[in-house]
Amino acid sequence: MTNQTTTKPLFETFSMDKLQLPNRTVMAPMTRGFSPGNVPNEDVAAYYRRRAENEVGLIITEGTGINHPASVSGAGIPVFHGEKALEGWADVVEQVHEAGGKIAPQLWHVGMTRKKGDLPNEEAEPVGPSGLSLDGEKVNEAPSTEEVEALVEAYAQAAKDAKRLGFDAIEIHGAHGYLIDQFFWENTNKRTDRYGGDLVERTQFAVEIVEACRREVGEDFPIIFRFSQWKMNDFQAKLATTPDELERFLQPLIDVGVDIFHCSTRRYWEPEFEGSDLNLAGWTKKLSGKPVISVGSVGLDGVFTDFSGAGTSSLDGLVEKLDRDEFDLVAIGRSLLMDPAWVKKVHEGRVNDLLAFNKEALKKLY
Ligand SMILES: Cc1cc2nc3c(=O)[nH]c(=O)nc-3n(C[C@H](O)[C@H](O)[C@H](O)COP(=O)(O)O)c2cc1C
Repeated sequence: MTNQTTTKPLFETFSMDKLQLPNRTVMAPMTRGFSPGNVPNEDVAAYYRRRAENEVGLIITEGTGINHPASVSGAGIPVFHGEKALEGWADVVEQVHEAGGKIAPQLWHVGMTRKKGDLPNEEAEPVGPSGLSLDGEKVNEAPSTEEVEALVEAYAQAAKDAKRLGFDAIEIHGAHGYLIDQFFWENTNKRTDRYGGDLVERTQFAVEIVEACRREVGEDFPIIFRFSQWKMNDFQAKLATTPDELERFLQPLIDVGVDIFHCSTRRYWEPEFEGSDLNLAGWTKKLSGKPVISVGSVGLDGVFTDFSGAGTSSLDGLVEKLDRDEFDLVAIGRSLLMDPAWVKKVHEGRVNDLLAFNKEALKKLY
C-alpha cells in the first residue's frame, strides 16, 4: 500500500479564482437516507463535520431534492426547500465550517427513476423529458415546455438558497440516468421542442439550469457540474463515443460558465477512448481547459455498483495520474462512508489503519 511520500500530490493545495482548497480530496456525493421527514438533522450535520475534521478538502453532500413534488424517492432523502430542511442544511454548513471544511450541496431531481407511490409525495407522478423509463418504456406524458422551464427555475431557487445558507459551491447532478441525464440521453429524450434533438441540443435543459443558477449566485460562486457516460441501468452507455463528441457535448456547458466538471466513472483507471490512457476526467480537462474531479474506486478493489464490499488497494496509480495533471481533484466515495478519517490517515501515512468498505457502512452514519 502507498506510503506518505508517494501520496504527496494529493495533499497539494488546489486554487482557482473562485475556490481554494487545502488538498485535492473531495467527498463524493452519497445518498444516505438518514434525514427523517426529508430534513437533515444533527446526526447528518455531525456526519459531515467528522469528514471536515479529518481533512477532506471539499465535501459534496448527498443528492438533495429541488423544489418539485417528484424530485426524490424516499422519506429519508433530504430535500433542499422548505424552512425546516433549509434550517437543517444551515446547521450542516455551520458544523462543516466550524471544523475548517468546505461544502457544496448536490442539487438533484431523480426524474423517471421515481415510482409513483414513492414517499414523500405518494401521489406525485415521475417527470422526465419524454415520459419514458430508462429502458425506453412509456410511463406517462412528457412535460410541456413551460413545465420544463419551471424545473429549471427550481434548480435556480436551490442555487440561490445554497449561497444564502453559506455553502461554498453547488454541484448540479447531471449524471447516472437521473433527470438532467435523461435529457442528455437519446434513449429517454425524444422531445421536439428546444429541449430535444441531437447531442448538443439535448444539453439545452442543463445549459438553462446552469444559466439560471449563475443568474442567482453571481459570477464569483463556483458551479460544479457532475456528468457520466454510464447510466444506472446500463454501465456501458456512452453519450459521447469519441473525443470529438465529448467536446461537442461539453462546449455548451463551458459556454454558460460551468467552473468545474465532476466526471463520474466507476473505475478511475479505465481509459475513456481507445488510443489514450486518459480517463473521462482527463479527456474533459484536456478538451475544456477546466478543472476536473475524477472518481471511481479510489483506494478500493471493487466497484461501487456492487454494494457487497471491497478491500483497500494501492493509491499509486491514482497519485501518478494526479501528478501528471490528468485531473485536479479526486472524489472518494465508499472509503469515506466507513472511515471518516480516511483522508487524514492517508495524509499521515497510516495506511494499515484504513478501514475497508463493507456493507455495514450503508446502515449507519459512521
Ligand atoms: C451509498 C451510495 C450513494 C450514492 N449516492 C450518490 C448521489 O446521491 N449522487 C451521486 O452523484 N452519486 C452517488 N453515488 C456515487 C458516488 O458519488 C461515487 O461516484 C461512487 O460511489 C464511486 O466512488 P467510490 O468507488 O469511491 O465509491 C453514491 C454511491 C454510494 C456508494
